[in-house]
Amino acid sequence: MLKRCGRRLLLALAGALLACLLVLTADPPPPPVPAERGRRALRSLAGPAGAAPAPGLEAAAAAAAPAALAREVHSLSEYFSLLTRARRDARPPPGGAPRPADGHRQPPAESLAPHDVFIAVKTTRKFHRARLDLLLETWISRHKEMTFIFTDGDDEALARRTGNVVNTNCSAAHSRQALSCKMAVEYDHFIESGRKWFCHVDDDNYVNVRALLRLLAGYPHTQDVYIGKPSLDRPIQATERVSENKMRPVHFWFATGGAGFCISRGLALKMSPWARGHFMSTAERIRLPDDCTIGYIVEALLGVPLIRSGLFHSHLENLQQVPASELHEQVTLSYGMFESKRNAIHMKGPFSVEADPSRFRSIHCHLYPDTPWCPHSAVF
Ligand SMILES: *[C@@H]1O[C@H](CO)[C@@H](O)[C@H](O)[C@H]1NC(C)=O
Repeated sequence: MLKRCGRRLLLALAGALLACLLVLTADPPPPPVPAERGRRALRSLAGPAGAAPAPGLEAAAAAAAPAALAREVHSLSEYFSLLTRARRDARPPPGGAPRPADGHRQPPAESLAPHDVFIAVKTTRKFHRARLDLLLETWISRHKEMTFIFTDGDDEALARRTGNVVNTNCSAAHSRQALSCKMAVEYDHFIESGRKWFCHVDDDNYVNVRALLRLLAGYPHTQDVYIGKPSLDRPIQATERVSENKMRPVHFWFATGGAGFCISRGLALKMSPWARGHFMSTAERIRLPDDCTIGYIVEALLGVPLIRSGLFHSHLENLQQVPASELHEQVTLSYGMFESKRNAIHMKGPFSVEADPSRFRSIHCHLYPDTPWCPHSAVF
């Protein structure tokens, strides 16, 4: 049974990819778009290392699948990187896109103070020194009251630096289940906090809190708001388990967790039948990671469309394309590796790339020039 499903999935995937590639090669040369598309999909669909791939994808395409393409599960990643490369040069398909966010240009719907927003930073014990210390030194240092760190191990050095550290007791593995376990704890803590907005980011994100507050102030927190950046240019196709032996296809947009996303309190409360104490079992229903599960609950189960914002950035996109002149408006930034090259915001600043490879210190001095450790003489 499992074998047959796997085989059908592979056929479906191969068919869908072949169809995509055929369409892409038939198109005239299109303008470039951000390169991240498709990448998260690969990670989502392939699942954590060694795990079975998620069921799903358009079965209609399966008919044309050449069996030669459907060899082994591990070659899925090759197919996806091929697809990503092809897609990078392709324009997004017309229609079916989520609402674009013009929030930062909208007049404020309500005034927001920092303590109205709950920012959950997801991390893991082994990155406390390598990643969190940098965040504590930079953006978190200005916004301790709104920032909550969700990790998986105790750390006295960290607890001394900030009060809001939550040991989720979730596994430190980078597995689908461990990630969903942390998201579940984040959600519960947000609900208990009584705050107006829930924002989730990763430990490689810089949050520009002033831009975040400006964006969120454009929406009433009592209404249904789910805002972030999708990593795909189309809804993800998944298979939802509706009962013991009944599955059905489902498709929905989701905001990529690695770029950060926000949810209004009004919407978060509506999510509670599937999220409060049930987040992990909901994630198991579609067998996709935590951020996909959020999209599933919001879009597929509640029918609330994702508001797409280009102000959120993950390490899965080419960060050099974010203009340094527009840093003030960006809500989240990131750093990391992209196609085995260092991927970071390209900006001149008081610190060299060697001294500040993530560029977060330079960005922080650009946004908060009165920071004591920023060189005072320099003008950026
Ligand atoms: C994790 O375990 C500790 C010790 O048992 C407990 O005090 C704490 O509340 C747990 N954390 C969560 C989020 O459940």
